Amino acid sequence: MIVGVPREIKTGEQRVALTPAGAHALTEHGHRVLVEETAGLGSGIRDEEYAAAGAVLGSVERVWAEAEMIVKVKDPVPPEYGRLRAGQVLFTYLHLAAVPDLARQLATAGVVAIGYETVERADGSLPLLTPMSEVAGRLAVQEGAFYLGRAHGGRGILLSGVPGVPRGNVVILGAGTVGVNAAKAAVGSGADVSVLDVNLDRLRHLDDLFAGRLVTLASNTFNVNQVVQRADLLVGAVLIAGARAPVLVDQSMVARMKPGAVIVDVAVDQGGCIATIHPTTLDDPVYRVSDVVHYGVANMPALVPRTSTFALANATLPYALELADRGAVGAVRSNPALARGVNVWRGRIVHHGVAEALGESPMPLDACLAAGDRDV
Ligand SMILES: NC(=O)c1ccc[n+]([C@@H]2O[C@H](COP(=O)([O-])OP(=O)(O)OC[C@H]3O[C@@H](n4cnc5c(N)ncnc54)[C@H](O)[C@@H]3O)[C@@H](O)[C@H]2O)c1
Repeated sequence: MIVGVPREIKTGEQRVALTPAGAHALTEHGHRVLVEETAGLGSGIRDEEYAAAGAVLGSVERVWAEAEMIVKVKDPVPPEYGRLRAGQVLFTYLHLAAVPDLARQLATAGVVAIGYETVERADGSLPLLTPMSEVAGRLAVQEGAFYLGRAHGGRGILLSGVPGVPRGNVVILGAGTVGVNAAKAAVGSGADVSVLDVNLDRLRHLDDLFAGRLVTLASNTFNVNQVVQRADLLVGAVLIAGARAPVLVDQSMVARMKPGAVIVDVAVDQGGCIATIHPTTLDDPVYRVSDVVHYGVANMPALVPRTSTFALANATLPYALELADRGAVGAVRSNPALARGVNVWRGRIVHHGVAEALGESPMPLDACLAAGDRDV
């Protein structure tokens, strides 16, 4: 198969979908890899590194025109719509329920669109979202520590403390992927850490993992109210799948926080779990409410594109290889996780969430496959 990797052109996006190791693996399997010139630069990967791994470098026109499968990071943007070709496989983050117009564009173009965020294992885990949650969780503490600096608007606290001076206090709401990774970074930095969740099994897991180096607490209004008042850094990391994040910290609790404390609400992309948070950008990440610094960047992994590129590509490559080796029909037939990732199949909306956003009924994937579509 010819696999194309375009340069990402969505504003601020510096990641690239394939690393030289991925190009090497695909060529080793007998596929041709076409990478757009300078596609890797934002992540610190030079064209020569791709060439040395067996990829061919080419223009944007060539990549889109020749590739049977396009591997990307972000959803296509309008200048890319006209480049989509019927039968082409598009493997990338899509988030189509939020952009129904793009779903229509993909259906009209006749592509097979597989969304990273909807690839789902039998246990409900989302293997292509996990790496970005890992990055965001660890980054939440790194960014929080930065904004606790006095010159950056914070209380002027060093999270580790020093001998004779207490550690900073970090409170993490939610003990999922973001929460565990924030806890690792916070414990590693020497802070005094508390983690809250409604799921006691998650707390048991953390208790085992950290062997007494942090405090776990059941998440309820009483406990949240108490810990938030002690926090120097408060990290929001809750998720209820498919729903808006629950608001656990109301305005009056924020008003009772220490002056110069920092809130990093990673869950801001689902509405946030702190009442006073709103989405911000990496260009202008923070604002103050009640003398508390609020950080609401909705695409935190974009701050560290090199790490994020390698983390994402490690997770996507096995699926990309399967799609290339078996073709889209063979791959979705043999791998149910990948089948759940199909959003649009050659003109038909397959994913129920996307169909619902468009006010349509989804077409079952099996029906699409049985309709006798030729292998793509
Ligand atoms: N801002 C960014 O750049 C960025 C990047 C990655 C992920 N995220 C977001 O971070 C959020 C967390 O993602 P995740 O991968 O850790 O999800 P996850 O499903 O792994 O974990 C969420 C946790 O929240 C817990 N929870 C639910 N309700 C709660 C409550 N009332 N009190 C305490 N805990 C509660 C759940 O039990 C679960 O353990 C999501 O909204 C995700 O989209 C944001």
